[in-house]
Amino acid sequence: MYIPRRPPLLFLFLAAVSLAGWISSVSGDSIKRRPIPSPPKELFSPSNASTENGELIPVEQFFSAKRCLVCHQDTHAAWSESLHRNAAREPFYRESADILLRTRGIEFTRHCESCHTPIALFSGALSKNAPRQQAPFTSLDDEGVTCTVCHSITEARLNGTGSFTIRRPALLAKEDGTPIFGNFTDEQILADIPGHKRAVMRPLLRTPEFCATCHKVDAPPDLNGYKHMRGFSAYDEWQQSGASHESVSPYYRAEQRVDCRGCHMPKIESLNDRAAKNGVIASHQWLGANTAAPLFYGQMKQVKLTEEFLRSQVISADIFALKRESTGETLPEVTTGSQLALSPGEEITAEVVVANRKAAHSFAPEVRDLYEIWVAFEAVDDQGKTLMRSGFIKPDGMLDDSAHIYKAILLDEDAKPITRHQIWLTTVVAYNNAIPAGRSDVVRFRFRVPKNWKRANSRAITLKTTVNYRRFTQEYTNYVLKRQGRKLTLPIVRMAENEVKILPMSAKNGAGKKDRTTKDVQARRWNDYGIALLEQAQYGPAAEAFRRSAELNPSDPNPLVSAAIAEMKTERFGLDRNQLAKAAELLDAALKLDPNNPRARYIHALLLRSLNKSVEAASELAKLAQEYPRDREVARQLGQTLYTLGRIAEARVAFEAIINVDPTDFGAYQFLSPIYQSEGQTEKADYARGRYLQWRDDPIASSIAARFFAAHPQWADERILAHTHDGDSPPRPVLTGSLAAPDK
Ligand code: HEC
Ligand code: HEC
Ligand code: HEC
Ligand code: HEC
Ligand code: HEC
Repeated sequence: MYIPRRPPLLFLFLAAVSLAGWISSVSGDSIKRRPIPSPPKELFSPSNASTENGELIPVEQFFSAKRCLVCHQDTHAAWSESLHRNAAREPFYRESADILLRTRGIEFTRHCESCHTPIALFSGALSKNAPRQQAPFTSLDDEGVTCTVCHSITEARLNGTGSFTIRRPALLAKEDGTPIFGNFTDEQILADIPGHKRAVMRPLLRTPEFCATCHKVDAPPDLNGYKHMRGFSAYDEWQQSGASHESVSPYYRAEQRVDCRGCHMPKIESLNDRAAKNGVIASHQWLGANTAAPLFYGQMKQVKLTEEFLRSQVISADIFALKRESTGETLPEVTTGSQLALSPGEEITAEVVVANRKAAHSFAPEVRDLYEIWVAFEAVDDQGKTLMRSGFIKPDGMLDDSAHIYKAILLDEDAKPITRHQIWLTTVVAYNNAIPAGRSDVVRFRFRVPKNWKRANSRAITLKTTVNYRRFTQEYTNYVLKRQGRKLTLPIVRMAENEVKILPMSAKNGAGKKDRTTKDVQARRWNDYGIALLEQAQYGPAAEAFRRSAELNPSDPNPLVSAAIAEMKTERFGLDRNQLAKAAELLDAALKLDPNNPRARYIHALLLRSLNKSVEAASELAKLAQEYPRDREVARQLGQTLYTLGRIAEARVAFEAIINVDPTDFGAYQFLSPIYQSEGQTEKADYARGRYLQWRDDPIASSIAARFFAAHPQWADERILAHTHDGDSPPRPVLTGSLAAPDK
């Protein structure tokens, strides 16, 4: 059976719920060969975008960014090099969307363009009778997501895929907010600044929900002829991260709430902009991770700033432990100068902890099928002889085929990987190992200690690791650049690095360096190691690592809570009740340190429930749900607990709270449908059931994933949670040509 690579962390003890009869009545349906859907009839579908009156907005009614330039020079300059500006024209996007255009027709591209070129969508340029049947569709394609797109958005919904409402842009508005249309002169604007501000700014823009409209995506049935396939959602990931302060479960919590703008639109110096206050303005550069598009246009400042952004301690790499393969013994807290009693010729596995520290969403958050992020490792003896090497670039520019890489693999209905981001073909996400916000991964590299290690007393082995980012896989870059007739080398950004020198145990080497790092740093190292082990389902060692972290930082309740989670996970498989007692002890200790700690209270409630104290569990969860009304995992656990207690009306409220945050949460609809039914609300019940069926994972899709892994055993090895890379790791074939989904 196909096992998802990353089991949901908080799926601890889902109570057995009496939905079984209902579920079996729907799980019998089988996938038919996908029909090609007929072209969408509605003006804006298959996108969720709309205009206030549901009608088109002619392209002339959008102002070009040039109209804003005189008074907003700095903002204009920053936007000009940003990805929003390049969103429609840049070839790494265009070449993918054009496949859809060529093979299915222009109407389907409304899906893509609602985010990438909203003006083409709203002006009606994406229809069969439009004058231009290929890009550029309008005179404003060159501006992609331009000023008067964002600054004319009046409403945001949370289902993504362009889930915003826009109105005809205006430079001025009346006191009640009604826009006054027309191209007013600069003098007229300056004579009515309050009116200008009313026309172009709304509080909505300063919320993360605004960004969610385009930074959350799915492929709907109108596009793929199949079902809703979830794409990415930087918004949902952020909302569940420690940066939002809306969720209790994250391992790390930012001191202050920080939303998308906090990291992507910081206040920067501005000397030439009428809207600058005290010499600063919100950056319209939107630094992220794209070095390719700006490089293509020679926007070297954007390239440089993006590289700096990626290098600003977003990710950390830590060669944390060495494992002796012959004995299984782990030597943790490795630092430079560590003296280790290794035997000559023995096999050692280095455990490298890669942690997502600063991205308040997963790393990488979005188009994961096209990017290339990998961990390079090298072990070298002091003669310069390489003992092991992984994750290097080959002479033809391609990445070493056995590297540890963070990516997603999307498959079409024939189990072939999709390599041009044709999300309309996606049938299953077979592989996805992006690192969620605040979490980490352990990567293992095996090498052999040189035979002469002891004889030459002072001999060191140097271990080096780096985390690298290249915007696109070389294969995709080659494809795009060949079609564009261009030659470019995309930068490889070194986001994190770590190097340690280890020595044999000996008197001659002295007592060895004392670990000079502070206890806080040590506690953090153990904590990140624990998180990574937990993610890899190594529950026992994870619990130990969290305990170590707690000892090093005795005032922090969090590692104790994490240790309890690990113990409870073990219990789930081992059915050892003793584990629950251990978890209870850890949680008591955590709650003693901080009786109000929401994470400890949450896990404690789940523990109560597994001890058959569901009433107490529900009451604690209900309190938490009041304090954190947007935490959907708290709401889910509360809803499930109440449901098993037969408190149906209260359970409904809890599940509806989930839908308010994520209207695509099929798990909530799965419960809501029978609940509505039992309350006699048949129409709502049918709606919820429809949503559930549309959004749930297709039960048969897993067999398609299984076919892929059977055909590519090297990927199956990579998918094993705790796998090791060594000199003999089998290279994985580049998934291209006949191995990949056709360009359709
Ligand atoms: C003739 C000069 C002028 C032009 C042209 C102009 N603006 Fe402005 N804009 C201003 C001034 C002045 C302010 C107000 C600064 C302040 O808050 O005192 C402003 C403020 C803004 C604000 C901030 C509003 C707020 O409440 O913080 C936005 C957004 C804005 N303009 C967008 C635009 C856009 C988009 C265009 C082009 C379609 C544009 N402006 C064209 C002069 C202009
Ligand atoms: C909900 C909005 C949305 C929709 C709809 C959408 N995209 Fe995108 N797309 C984005 C965002 C946001 C990014 C940028 C991600 C980033 O920078 O990491 C992106 C990036 C891409 C990229 C990578 C380009 C690059 O330079 O990184 C490709 C290719 C792409 N989209 C193709 C498509 C195609 C084809 C469709 C339609 C089938 C589509 N997108 C629909 C929002 C959307
Ligand atoms: C992707 C959406 C988007 C686009 C495109 C966009 N803006 Fe903005 N703009 C925003 C958001 C969001 C804010 C609020 C930032 C904040 O206050 O943190 C903003 C704020 C502003 C401000 C006020 C800045 C301040 O510090 O108060 C001005 C002026 C402005 N925009 C002008 C423009 C102009 C001119 C363009 C085009 C050259 C443009 N914007 C393009 C989303 C956008
Ligand atoms: C109208 C749709 C739309 C809205 C609204 C929008 N974006 Fe984007 N954004 C895009 C698209 C499309 C891209 C990707 C373009 C590409 O890669 O071709 C993008 C790219 C980005 C990037 C990637 C830059 C990089 O170098 O990888 C960041 C960061 C970003 N947006 C942040 C934001 C933030 C923050 C907000 C809210 C203030 C926001 N966006 C609102 C459509 C939008
Ligand atoms: C605490 C800081 C932080 C916050 C908050 C944050 N981001 Fe990011 N974001 C980053 C960093 C760092 C990166 C670069 C590393 C990466 O690609 O993950 C990034 C990358 C991105 C990219 C480029 C993605 C790609 O795959 O190329 C997009 C788009 C983006 N963020 C959107 C958002 C949106 C939308 C929000 C709010 C819902 C948000 N971010 C909140 C730090 C943040």
